[in-house]
Amino acid sequence: MQKTVLITGATRGIGREVARQLKAAGYAVFVTGRDARALAAVQKELDCPGAAVDLGDPNRVVDLYATAQKALGHVEALVNNAGFNEAKVGIEKVTPEALDHSYAVNVRAPILLAREALKEMGARRSGHIVNVLSSVVKAKLENYSVYSTMKHALHGFTGCLTKEARAQGVKVTAIYPGGVDTTFRTNARPDYMRADSAARMIVLCLTAPEDVVVHELVYRPLVETNF
Ligand SMILES: NC(=O)c1ccc[n+]([C@@H]2O[C@H](COP(=O)([O-])OP(=O)(O)OC[C@H]3O[C@@H](n4cnc5c(N)ncnc54)[C@H](OP(=O)(O)O)[C@@H]3O)[C@@H](O)[C@H]2O)c1
Repeated sequence: MQKTVLITGATRGIGREVARQLKAAGYAVFVTGRDARALAAVQKELDCPGAAVDLGDPNRVVDLYATAQKALGHVEALVNNAGFNEAKVGIEKVTPEALDHSYAVNVRAPILLAREALKEMGARRSGHIVNVLSSVVKAKLENYSVYSTMKHALHGFTGCLTKEARAQGVKVTAIYPGGVDTTFRTNARPDYMRADSAARMIVLCLTAPEDVVVHELVYRPLVETNF
């Protein structure tokens, strides 16, 4: 059976590189993001299905999984990669809007997609869910309270998911990258990891031997010292 994968945040950055590398490895790929033009370019390049969806809308998130499942036949792997860190401010400046938006995309959406995936994969007793967290879970950083809170929440969820999925024959991997030079950052950081390098580590986990599950992967650029 052909390996299949649904990748969120595949319009640029790490997610687009994961899509490229998995396609090259023979996977049938389904890509998603909000930017319809960027998505169309990725779909054209990889000759693959996709859907433009704002993950902030929970109903659209659930529909997205069903659409991908229909397009791929079955979803063998889910890569919960989409995320953002926009509210880089001191705690005095944190707003309810920033908290809610970050929660919707960085926490609720990957949880709902993992829920849908576990239903399908658990019934088949086969599959792999990869959640892209961040090395902020392993560090303490000023002005990152909103993002850090959300990644810690997803970390907590991923621990529970790992246990419940194991009992259903489904692999779960939590990825904790350090700095990656993508548009995620306000300023370019050529001293950080390249998006394709960061993606390669995710692909390594997905293509590990059948009898191996990588539960956690922490990796950073050599220049990073916040550990
Ligand atoms: N870059 C880093 O230093 C770094 C370090 C550790 C962890 N991470 C994590 O790695 C993941 C990917 O980051 P990246 O660096 O590749 O970021 P990026 O280049 O900014 O790409 C983010 C992706 O997420 C999608 N996205 C954002 N908001 C969305 C929404 N509301 N609905 C649907 N899609 C949305 C974007 O697509 P659209 O704009 O088309 O919607 C884009 O494809 C994130 O979870 C991030 O937290 C990044």
